Amino acid sequence: MAQTWTPNSWRQKPIQQVPDYPDLAVLESVESRLAKYPPLVFAGEARRLKHALASVAEGRGFLLQGGDCAESFAEHGADTIRDFFRAFLQMAVVLTFGAQQPVVKVGRIAGQFAKPRSSSVEKQGDVTLPSYRGDIINGIEFTEEARVPNPERQIMAYRQSAATLNLLRAFAMGGYANLENVHQWMLGFVKDSPQAERYRKLADRISETMDFMKAIGITAENHPSLRETDFFTSHEALLLGYEQALTRVDSTSGDWYATSGHMIWIGDRTRQPDHAHVEYCRGIKNPLGLKCGPSLTADGLLELIDLLNPANEAGRLTLICRFGHDKVAEHMPRLIRAVEREGKKVVWSCDPMHGNTITLNNYKTRPFERVLSEVESFFQIHRAEGTHPGGIHIEMTGNDVTECTGGARALSGDDLADRYHTHCDPRLNADQALELAFLLAERMKGGRDEKRMVVNG
Ligand code: TRP
Ligand code: MN
Repeated sequence: MAQTWTPNSWRQKPIQQVPDYPDLAVLESVESRLAKYPPLVFAGEARRLKHALASVAEGRGFLLQGGDCAESFAEHGADTIRDFFRAFLQMAVVLTFGAQQPVVKVGRIAGQFAKPRSSSVEKQGDVTLPSYRGDIINGIEFTEEARVPNPERQIMAYRQSAATLNLLRAFAMGGYANLENVHQWMLGFVKDSPQAERYRKLADRISETMDFMKAIGITAENHPSLRETDFFTSHEALLLGYEQALTRVDSTSGDWYATSGHMIWIGDRTRQPDHAHVEYCRGIKNPLGLKCGPSLTADGLLELIDLLNPANEAGRLTLICRFGHDKVAEHMPRLIRAVEREGKKVVWSCDPMHGNTITLNNYKTRPFERVLSEVESFFQIHRAEGTHPGGIHIEMTGNDVTECTGGARALSGDDLADRYHTHCDPRLNADQALELAFLLAERMKGGRDEKRMVVNG
């Protein structure tokens, strides 16, 4: 029998990845201040996202989830947010066309600050200091002072999230997301890409479709859906004190919601069924993500599904698979079969980033070919199992960084030093992200043509 849940029942459970705050009284005072601040998102919005994800779970949509590995205080600015949103929307258009299905748009943004670490300390030379755990906890500079966890950072993260969300809402609803704009940006990308020839066909077909719509009188002026888009936020719910402070009752339903973001996920390192992170997440009604890595067994997954989605509601749970390009074929089929056998409703999403990290010239990087290869295997496996490859989850930025190798511009290990700006893991830059979307759209379209041929005999 599941025990009674409260927003703080997680405090009775074992917990991983907790910062060592030197002064618990300061921590408490920060948490009680946060508890009085306005919610960042609203229950009705989270329900709308859940509804959209339910369609994805049923095979009628595609989830695009992406953003920074870790947001940072230093890089908080309108340009960074705008450039991210711009790259993200371009991906969304290409994927909508490729899938011929609605794309559910979820940013890893406006709250993605806390990072789980494989080691609690970092060594440089003879010096050992506490690891950097994300700007919401401590500073990235390798000094004793910066690495002390400081609760006041939670207030800064909250305020940054509010400002980021405010701008994103304006972009999504105020005209910036106009399909006509996004399409023009995409044409610019295609023109400049070394792979221009390859992408032009798809781009031309989108152009023709837009012209056709205009010809029959469907324009952004008379159809708001052409100039507006639903954009949602998400982050890993790692720092539970912060999450608890922003957990609120929805007055219309009486249910508890995390109001720190629309969707939150549980990391691969903190998904122990009897531990604190699963306990917190099971009690809130937001759509949840669960990161699934190679160590997750089929029975372990089913146990987690029962805890997190006991009513088996479509849209509640997204399984974010992060196995690695060379391990996905070994691990994913058994999970898919268990989920299918038990009739569990989930969204299957592919995180092709976290299982494909290598070190090159002392930089953590991810070869674009491996990222692509994991996504391709993910699609193939779902096709073979008869299940819906529901989405992708990527670490990306709108900036022209050099963090992942490969792609059409063939970044090499020697290029990494140029613009390696990430506060944590290497991200796809805008070109690489859009290229991934184009390659995926080609595959999706290929899959549909195959199906059509079978139907038409
Ligand atoms: N409203 C639709 C959607 O969000 C169409 C749309 C408008 C769109 N602007 C967009 C799609 C930008 C992708 C990107 O799907
Ligand atoms: Mn990461």
